[in-house]
Amino acid sequence: MSTTIELERLGKRYRGHRVLDDLTLDLSAGIFALLGPNGAGKTTLVSILTTLLRPDSGTARVLGHDVVHEAKAVRRLIGATGQYASVDEALTGRENLVMVARLLGLATLDARSRASELLASFGLEDAADRPVSGYSGGMRRRVDLAASLVRTPAVLFLDEPTTGLDPASRSHLWDDIARLASEGCSVFLTTQMLDEAEALADRVAILDGGRIVADGTVASLVSLVGEEAAVLVDAGGRVARTLEIDRTAGGLARALADLSEDERAMRVELRRPGLDDAFLALTGRNKRTPAEEEAAA
Ligand SMILES: Nc1ncnc2c1ncn2[C@@H]1O[C@H](COP(=O)(O)OP(=O)(O)OP(=O)(O)O)[C@@H](O)[C@H]1O
Ligand SMILES: [Mg+2]
Repeated sequence: MSTTIELERLGKRYRGHRVLDDLTLDLSAGIFALLGPNGAGKTTLVSILTTLLRPDSGTARVLGHDVVHEAKAVRRLIGATGQYASVDEALTGRENLVMVARLLGLATLDARSRASELLASFGLEDAADRPVSGYSGGMRRRVDLAASLVRTPAVLFLDEPTTGLDPASRSHLWDDIARLASEGCSVFLTTQMLDEAEALADRVAILDGGRIVADGTVASLVSLVGEEAAVLVDAGGRVARTLEIDRTAGGLARALADLSEDERAMRVELRRPGLDDAFLALTGRNKRTPAEEEAAA
């Protein structure tokens, strides 16, 4: 399979702080999910791949084009939706899409008909002629996604596309993303949710502190973390430890017998592994809280 995205020793620093640390990665067509906690470097990587930011070292290629030296060629091939909805609040959904289409060089009539097609395919027809300021978060996200598809991209970048959406809007957007992929568009998405990666991605990688700490299929990641686990949750709601259980009552009893005094006061939950558990298994520590992240930066 041909390479869609290729990173070679890609590095980026902010004021001496290493945000991306020698990343090397080869991605083929399909849906790729980059998982990582706050501050992992996800948006920084997406910004480099979408030519909005220059790396300090190494190279990044999209469909064979260097993102620094062939930025124009890259821009022609990609679509992107940033972490925060970037639609114009004062305009209607339709006006936003027509404006983007015009900026991309479509003639007025073509721009209008493309906007109508997109509004229909994203279920936004009823709201199309209302200002975006009155849209829900999920509707804004969909207008944003539609705007990145005015010209069908070969690779679509989505930075945390469903963060902040309710479950129904999330699943709606997942359907949209899966549909695009089935039409041949490769998708590079970032997320903090393992279930999102699981629902969509052919391949996932976990980014932590600017480094890739795991890379493979979601199934391989989940098997690395373990199937269903019993976890101890501390007072702050974070996973303090994952208990080794072998799915028998005896295994659970043995694991519970070994708890320390502090651990005995914690909540125990049986659950499927999530990003928290993956983190603990792969990095030996919890994800950082936003405050810890700030202190580390
Ligand atoms: N313009 C900037 N100047 C200085 N530091 C920055 C800048 N942009 C990002 N950083 C730092 O780089 C690190 C990675 O940030 P980035 O936004 O890429 O993370 P992220 O994985 O997208 O996080 P989130 O999940 O919160 O969106 C953070 O420590 C952040 O503070
Ligand atoms: Mg981000």
